[in-house]
Amino acid sequence: WVLILDYGSQYTQLIARRIREQNVYCEIHPCNTNLQNIADHPPKGIILSGGPSSVNDEDAPALNRSIFDWEVPILGICYGLQLLAHDEIPGSVEKADRREFGRSELIIDDDSGLFKNLPQESVVWMSHADHIKELSDNYKVIGHTDNARVAAVRHTDKDIYGVQFHPEVVHTVNGKQILTNFISDICELEGSWTAQSFIESTVQEIRQKVGSDRVLCGLSGGVDSTVVATLIHKAIGDQLQCIFVDNGLLRKNEFQKVLNVYEDKLHLPVKGIDASDKFLKNLAGVFDPEEKRNIIGNTFIDVFDDAIAHDQSFKYLAQGTLYPDVIESVSFKGPSATIKSHHNVGGLPEEMNLDLIEPVRELFKDEVRNVGRELGIPDNFINRHPFPGPGLGIRVISDITEEKLEMAREADDIFISELRKQDLYDEVWQALVALLPVQSVGVMGDERTYEYTAALRAVTSVDGMTADWAHLPHPFLSYVSNRIINEVPGINRVVYDVSSKPPSTIEWE
Ligand code: XMP
Repeated sequence: WVLILDYGSQYTQLIARRIREQNVYCEIHPCNTNLQNIADHPPKGIILSGGPSSVNDEDAPALNRSIFDWEVPILGICYGLQLLAHDEIPGSVEKADRREFGRSELIIDDDSGLFKNLPQESVVWMSHADHIKELSDNYKVIGHTDNARVAAVRHTDKDIYGVQFHPEVVHTVNGKQILTNFISDICELEGSWTAQSFIESTVQEIRQKVGSDRVLCGLSGGVDSTVVATLIHKAIGDQLQCIFVDNGLLRKNEFQKVLNVYEDKLHLPVKGIDASDKFLKNLAGVFDPEEKRNIIGNTFIDVFDDAIAHDQSFKYLAQGTLYPDVIESVSFKGPSATIKSHHNVGGLPEEMNLDLIEPVRELFKDEVRNVGRELGIPDNFINRHPFPGPGLGIRVISDITEEKLEMAREADDIFISELRKQDLYDEVWQALVALLPVQSVGVMGDERTYEYTAALRAVTSVDGMTADWAHLPHPFLSYVSNRIINEVPGINRVVYDVSSKPPSTIEWE
């Protein structure tokens, strides 16, 4: 496996993805991690990420010299390279006269090792303000650009490399080849980490961990919890108990449809609980989005509590935590500002005295999807758009009533089913309808109306972190608008949201 030490670059996750695309397992650890903790399973290669600091800053994250003890290949990227240089000759890295952002032409001076099978010249992506002024005799330059005399280096007698540019971004034309050279040739790692091998080893681990105890798993109808439940079921059969709660905030017919898939297609031991009255009662008259999220989270806890109150046999709670959440929470930079407190059943384990079991916590979303496919979960289920835990509760803007939920549900059903019918569903990353608390004047037949507004939102994205509004065809939008206004009582106006994220978010609340 490969250890990626994170110095705070916005591209660190991309490095991990590029390595895993080669079926090689890797983990991101904060740069100040205690390497003793992984001494039992040392990595076969180490990558030092880029980062926003300058090695000359007083509080700049430093190089942990014990990485050299393992004597495995090392690749420093951007800040990582500068750390290696600074470590040899303090003061050798300085502010460049010309900062370099964006494309640059790399000219290769040594086409072995890291640059094997690369053309003499190729486009690379730079993003740095400092550069290396002086290089120790232990290193030699293997690539330069117009502006950077030292764009890539290699140690003269160890497998240590550094590049000033970012091989992990797609704009670096041969970035993939460079990382392949590092992983396959230099670290001599074979690509044996596949969805299949992940399933086999995870099933073993779950069996060992759980023994003869029981596991509780909350299903949401989404990919992550479904994959988690299916994995655990494969490992321990009916020692698993799943719960799928109707919180009254689900899409049209969702509860029954999803329950059927769980029972008939996936054969999961699942208990459906209709708690919609309880949720809607607790939410009545609440306007603030974060307060709504809190209430929904707490009500989930109550419902779970009730469901297993009489049963002491549960020892574990399964959760669909994904790798980006894990990385976010271990970052050495400390937690970032809370924009939205994304709700999952986070409070449960403490409240209920259950240990967590999180079998996909090392995976990215698309990897979870691959595992799901391998487990035989139907494709149309795997490819579903993400749906937030608080559901329509944060799509009916401001306070929630049965009547508004009904409008949101019907409008959503029309939008989503038309996307499917017209083959646009898979073109967008997520689509939704927000019911706005804005009433406006319209005319239907010869009557004046004064009714609500539905905002359609569809976005393209890779990971939900950034997103652009989807440029859906105008005739499609026009058709959907027409259907909603004609078929959903209470809505007389439809608007299309053309904001990107950032600065907007995907959901309206
Ligand atoms: P935003 O609105 O922050 O959403 O751009 C990014 C992604 O997260 C989903 N989302 C949530 N998911 N609980 C969830 O489980 C939440 O409270 C929540 N809020 C937003 C959103 O649908 C999008 O996919």
